[in-house]
Amino acid sequence: MDETIYSVAVDGPSGAGKSTLAKAVAAELGIVYVDTGAIYRSIGYEIFRRGIDPKDTAAVIEALPEIHIEMRYGEDGLQRMYLNGDDVTAEIRRPEISMYASGVSAIGEVRAFLLNMQRDLAKKSSVIMDGRDIGTVVLPNADVKIYLTASVEMRAKRRMLELEKRGTPQPFEEVLQQIEERDWADMHRDVAPLRQAEDAVVVDTSALNFEESLAQILAVIRRGRNI
Ligand code: DC
Repeated sequence: MDETIYSVAVDGPSGAGKSTLAKAVAAELGIVYVDTGAIYRSIGYEIFRRGIDPKDTAAVIEALPEIHIEMRYGEDGLQRMYLNGDDVTAEIRRPEISMYASGVSAIGEVRAFLLNMQRDLAKKSSVIMDGRDIGTVVLPNADVKIYLTASVEMRAKRRMLELEKRGTPQPFEEVLQQIEERDWADMHRDVAPLRQAEDAVVVDTSALNFEESLAQILAVIRRGRNI
């Protein structure tokens, strides 16, 4: 494999398996995994902590200068999120934070605030970066772009199992409704909505298990980079 820095952009709706698969790809290829959703979740978490309505654009913008977000990599190579110095890696995964993250992510000023942070990460080392606008806005020149998706029912089922494993179970219908709401919000916002980049390769994991999905993604990357 050559030593030049390269980037892989992975976008797609909630629960498509982006983070699990991107993490595995990063381990396989020896590159850095950047979970950009965690950055929006950290802002969402602070807005939640302050009791601000994420739809109150003015209040969210006013809070931004007081929010300092840092991403660090542990010895295990996994990304940890620090919010004003506190490790919030676990807290930002709480189900109620998802809608806060989606809410604040619709605000242009929030996206602008985070843009350079994300781009800088891709300048320093080879990355696989996942999110909603990586191939379209953050890294439009990414070497490989993947749009990872699956049917909404399959995504809800997987999310339900994940919540069960984490000890915070929720009924299927509720999870399905939350995913549909978040899909709609993320796809219909004015700034950087979720959409497939024209040059992205679609990987639909509805009928694939983890190993099959991973193999497909690695094949797309290897084909795209001739490695
Ligand atoms: O990937 P996730 O579920 O952790 O992301 C949480 C929210 O953050 C998601 O609903 C939309 C937003 N997000 C975004 O707008 N752009 C990104 N690149 C990543 C996430």
